[in-house]
Amino acid sequence: MSLQEHVAAAFQEKFGTAPPLMVRAPGRVNLIGEHTDYNDGFVLPMAIDREICLALRPRDDDQVSVHSLDFEETAVFQLTSLQNTNSGWAEYLKGVAWALQENGYALRGWEGVMAGDVPKGAGLSSSAALELATARAFQQVSGFAWDAPQMAKLSQLAENKWVGVNCGIMDQMISAAGEAGHALLIDCRSLVTQSVPLPPTLDGSETAVVILDTTTRRGLVDSAYNERRQQCEAAAAFFGVKALRDVSITEFLEAADQLDPLTQRRAKHVITENLRTLNAAKAMQNADAALLGQLMNESHVSMRDDFEITNDELNVMVAAAQSQPACFGARMTGGGFGGCAVALVHGEMVDAFVTAVKQQYQQQTSLTPKIYVCQPSDGASVVSSS
Ligand code: GLA
Repeated sequence: MSLQEHVAAAFQEKFGTAPPLMVRAPGRVNLIGEHTDYNDGFVLPMAIDREICLALRPRDDDQVSVHSLDFEETAVFQLTSLQNTNSGWAEYLKGVAWALQENGYALRGWEGVMAGDVPKGAGLSSSAALELATARAFQQVSGFAWDAPQMAKLSQLAENKWVGVNCGIMDQMISAAGEAGHALLIDCRSLVTQSVPLPPTLDGSETAVVILDTTTRRGLVDSAYNERRQQCEAAAAFFGVKALRDVSITEFLEAADQLDPLTQRRAKHVITENLRTLNAAKAMQNADAALLGQLMNESHVSMRDDFEITNDELNVMVAAAQSQPACFGARMTGGGFGGCAVALVHGEMVDAFVTAVKQQYQQQTSLTPKIYVCQPSDGASVVSSS
């Protein structure tokens, strides 16, 4: 049974009727452009074929009641008296309701059932998927227009201010605006997006995007993430600009030796990563898988040596992937300090690639990786409504 069928069946069992409405929103993997979003820069993620799915029906009052099949818990809250009780997954729903209402949206209550297959805590944005599925649910029952960048911004606001995680805009934007078969070049300042197709291989076969989960998890990640943000802000202040997005590589090279070595490395990563990301989008448009792969490899070196957000397991995983003949390129992806790598692989050699990388990683780390071959998917959408 598919995830959507599973959720529909659970709704039917709970409410005695088929769900009149079903919405979904995907997790994501970032192909390139890491820690550039909060520097007003460029990112190139794709929505993956793993999602949060929500079956629901409107209510006549201001109550929201959701049963999570994954957590085996029901959350109930009133839209007119939202309270943050630090209750885990339900806070993402409350946070989105709060952010929408703060920004003038008149919301209606609803009740439903949800489940997801985005691995949690792996850096594949299960929280953004939950936020955007929630925004879609409110949009449908409350009857306002769907504006993907606006919904992404309000979901990010929910995560920043209600949940208390200081993330950038990438995860919410791609979950809101992803496009099947494509990655999205996102300008994180203007939120203008451009969809770019996955490049074919030289012999015209498809390439595959493979997510390689090290199964290591980031420890004191918030502090390290926030520290990187501060270092980037300090570098931007040194150059007298709003964000590092505004510093060209020439300007950087001319003044770099006036920066302390650490700030210099951090700024170098962001400034070169923005360039790599723009070049990667061009490579995709030019159907150049080899160049895209090379840029991914260079991005990994930059994150390892200059931004210093990889761990040993990520480095082992990326090296294992890169050593395979089927691999065009690989890099760590997401926030860093654990989690996943992403590889661009020859579509017809995926099985051999997966087996070899798994074996090599296991041998070198004694850990069993989780590997997902992904399809680029649509952003938050309505599956069915009657
Ligand atoms: C996390 C954040 C994103 C982004 C990435 C790094 O996933 O949620 O906003 O900053 O890290 O690229």
